[in-house]
Formats: sequence, structure tokens, C-alpha cells
Amino acid sequence: MFKIKMMPSETEVLLPAGVQLTELEHELREDNIPFGCKSGACGACVIEVLDGLANLNNKEEDEDEFLEMLGFSGPGFRLACQCQLNGAVTLRVAK
Ligand code: FES
Repeated sequence: MFKIKMMPSETEVLLPAGVQLTELEHELREDNIPFGCKSGACGACVIEVLDGLANLNNKEEDEDEFLEMLGFSGPGFRLACQCQLNGAVTLRVAK
């Protein structure tokens, strides 16, 4: 199990290795990630990874381009619905 820490509430959730961050949808009360399409198409779920970026799967080119189009450039921004968990991370909702 790996720890996901949500900021600014500091809420911590444990999820098993290899799951998608969409699993957080029913785990959080505060700092809940606003999932929409869950397929990388709507831009609702933008997060900023504050720590542990290497513990997520690599960002695909399509995801990177979409994030830039939404105004979120930089390696720390991800679409939560496109993230697979491989270690502990600290996140916050980006908007
Ligand atoms: S939920 Fe639509 S892009 Fe992530």
C-alpha cells in the first residue's frame, strides 16, 4: 500500500500499488479531486504533484499537450485520471 497525502488538508489515504488515482474518488472528503470523464478528455481532474512525481507513471505526450492547452505547463501538473500509483505521493487539486 502507498500513501497519498492531499494538501492543504493533509488528508492521507492508502491505496495499493498499480491502481489509478481515480480510486480516490470515493476516499476523500476534503481536497476531493473533481473527476469528470476519467479518460483524459475533459480537464476536470488537474492536480499538482508536490512530492513523489517519480512514483507515478510517465506523462504521455497527449496528456502533456492537453495540460499546456489548459494553462498548466510544467512536469508537476497531471491529469489525475491518467495517473497510476507506484509509490507515495503528495498532491493538491490544481484549480
Ligand atoms: S476526469 Fe476528465 S480529464 Fe481527468
